[in-house]
Amino acid sequence: MCGIVGYIGHRQSQPILLEGLKKLEYRGYDSAGIAVFTEQGLEITKSVGRLANLEGRLSGDPLKGTVGIGHTRWATHGKPSDANSHPHTDNSMKFSVVHNGIIENYLELKEELVQAGHRFQSETDTEVISHLIAVEYEGDIVKAVQKAVRKMRGAFALGVLTEHEPDRLVAVRYASPLIIGIGEGEKFIASDIPAILEHTRDIYILNDGEMAVLTREGVELMTIEGNFISKDVFHVDWDLMTAEKGGFDHFMLKEIHEQPKAYSDTMRGRVSEDGRSVALSELSITAEQLRSIDRVHIVACGTAMHAGLVGKTVIEQLARIPVETDVASEYRYRSPIITPRTLVIVVSQSGETADTLAALREAKRNGARVLAITNVVGSSVAREADDVIITLAGPEIAVASTKAYTSQLIAFYLFGLHLAQTLGTQDEAYIARVLAAMQSLPEQVERILAQGEVIKEVAESIAHNRSLFFIGRGLDYAVAMEGSLKLKEISYIHSEAYAAGELKHGTLALIEEGVPVIALITQEELQEKTLSNIKEVKARGADVLGIVNEGAEAEIAKSVDTLFAIPRTLPLLTPALSVIPLQLLSYYASLSLGHDVDKPRNLAKSVTVE
Ligand code: M6R
Repeated sequence: MCGIVGYIGHRQSQPILLEGLKKLEYRGYDSAGIAVFTEQGLEITKSVGRLANLEGRLSGDPLKGTVGIGHTRWATHGKPSDANSHPHTDNSMKFSVVHNGIIENYLELKEELVQAGHRFQSETDTEVISHLIAVEYEGDIVKAVQKAVRKMRGAFALGVLTEHEPDRLVAVRYASPLIIGIGEGEKFIASDIPAILEHTRDIYILNDGEMAVLTREGVELMTIEGNFISKDVFHVDWDLMTAEKGGFDHFMLKEIHEQPKAYSDTMRGRVSEDGRSVALSELSITAEQLRSIDRVHIVACGTAMHAGLVGKTVIEQLARIPVETDVASEYRYRSPIITPRTLVIVVSQSGETADTLAALREAKRNGARVLAITNVVGSSVAREADDVIITLAGPEIAVASTKAYTSQLIAFYLFGLHLAQTLGTQDEAYIARVLAAMQSLPEQVERILAQGEVIKEVAESIAHNRSLFFIGRGLDYAVAMEGSLKLKEISYIHSEAYAAGELKHGTLALIEEGVPVIALITQEELQEKTLSNIKEVKARGADVLGIVNEGAEAEIAKSVDTLFAIPRTLPLLTPALSVIPLQLLSYYASLSLGHDVDKPRNLAKSVTVE
């Protein structure tokens, strides 16, 4: 995820910017840059790769000046490169901008600017912002930023400098975090507290739609409409480690809580303004090519493969095309039937998983078209696939994947709807209904997260069991598999996921007094059948936790020992909600056993060996 740092004060800004960016390294990035007012004017140095590359460039030619902005970039529009790194500038080179977030309408804005004679150096949405501000400038940078921002749709946190007003630094927040640091004779901006903690513990936290104008002496706070506001100073008493985790105890918990934002970010710009259709403008595959597909293979590993299991049902239900989901390490060796009419979808958070990459290459060798769903722009999977849907979960640091999985589900919903729209397998009203339900998911996830303490109690009560089971039918079974993997991975408790109806064919022998069984019962048309299977385990002494839809509690309560209700959504979308309590369950079980939640034993975040 991109990082922003800005400084205006009495000290040299370059070391403060670089140190601040280093403190944001944990967020992940692929390139970096700074802009500083020097005696020559606004000067920019940037470099793809690690911060050390940027430091290398600056070591021979430091930027001397007491006002500057810096940025670490996590690519979303355009590959990682020097040109795409921030800060960006306009054609006059008098304005400079750093930006986190996504400008949804940047292509339209860019087209207008190009027609008016503007030349662009990068593929980014951010460069459009610096041009827009330059166009709107009439002697007051604050007004110019306000006018430019009104033309933009999407999410943005901005730091803006202009050579015309070298004693002002402008900051804006809209759906991307930004804070202002208050020091003696110096002020800071940052996307996250760790970047400035060394210099000040007094901050203003901007809310969406607010902006700040920083000078050495003070900070003016206002809305983006220009109404002045006042705010309490927030005093940070966290240490650096806590600050990096946004106040959470672990990255995993932070990432679980980032899911509402990851859902919104992954949907942003991909749904038409009237909410009635999907617009995946990044796909080059034509309608005719989509119509020629006669089968889909989804190939991935671990959690990404579990997202693929949901993806199978989503595509089959929405587009009525047969789908097979495979473990990538098996795919190549089972001699799969791949033809030019096969669409192979590879799913990978990192985009570097060796088995997934090998499967992608096998698919291409056999003439299939490959679509990648990945979280990392410029990753090997993204580069080698024919089409890419980027999940905008932001960097995932905990080994246990959470927000990447749920963003992959969102990508499958969007792609499934895109296919249905193109093939005409669902009518417009139904597509609009699914999209409307998807827009409610972030708020529904928030409601589940607010009940973390309830799940914590359950987790503590099961953590000392040697073994437990997850059961479900249909999509509930796919989610059960993810819940079981998550628990094994970080709590080291043995668990198995079973299709609820399959238990009686062998595994039921393992159910005895006190064995915890987590039963997912969210698919209404399968509810009765699952309840029968719950009776089978209860009769053998199992202790059953039921994950159910709100409103079904009374009906199901008598069949289980404990209940957890999730907000109601369309059956197809329930995995995006029902997995959340399972993620929390694993987290709290691991915590209560005293394990290293973020770095479980024997596992790596990115598995680049076969
Ligand atoms: O980066 P990828 O999505 O390709 O990684 C695939 C798996 O290694 C990964 O999902 C793994 O299963 C997670 N640690 C599970 O939480």
